Amino acid sequence: MDRYERAFFWFSAAMLGLFLCVLAYVTVGMHIRLPGPSGRIIPAPGQNLGAAVLATAPFNHPGLRMIGPGEYEVVMIAQQWFFFPRRIHVPAGSRVTFRVTSADVTHGFFIPGTRVNMMIIPGYISVETYRFERAGDYRIICHEYCGLDHQTMSAEVVVK
Ligand code: CUA
Repeated sequence: MDRYERAFFWFSAAMLGLFLCVLAYVTVGMHIRLPGPSGRIIPAPGQNLGAAVLATAPFNHPGLRMIGPGEYEVVMIAQQWFFFPRRIHVPAGSRVTFRVTSADVTHGFFIPGTRVNMMIIPGYISVETYRFERAGDYRIICHEYCGLDHQTMSAEVVVK
């Protein structure tokens, strides 16, 4: 094997090893990973998905609830073309867990300026937690084309 060929071989192997270490570090060390579905809603035979969502806990009682000091959970339904609830109010510094599902088609769930960015897939429950340190109005926008009025689909997190 040529000297340079060998050098490049070891260089490539070292880069590969380095990238694998970085991947392992961000997933295990920093807990950064793609949000995955955390549950499923499967309609009964003859039942449509919208009805199944409304009959399944916790989506039979959508809304915001306090689950501990400074800790909130919001159960939200995404539907053409709105989120329900449309607006939630939390104090600054709150940790908010979003538990979201779709009653019809695939929607997006993105809060600009934060790392909250999920896909809301029919039949699946998506969960993400975020701490809102600073006061302000945070817009939740649907960033997945979902039909005629897609561009109007949004909700709001008001942090005081
Ligand atoms: Cu919902 Cu776009």
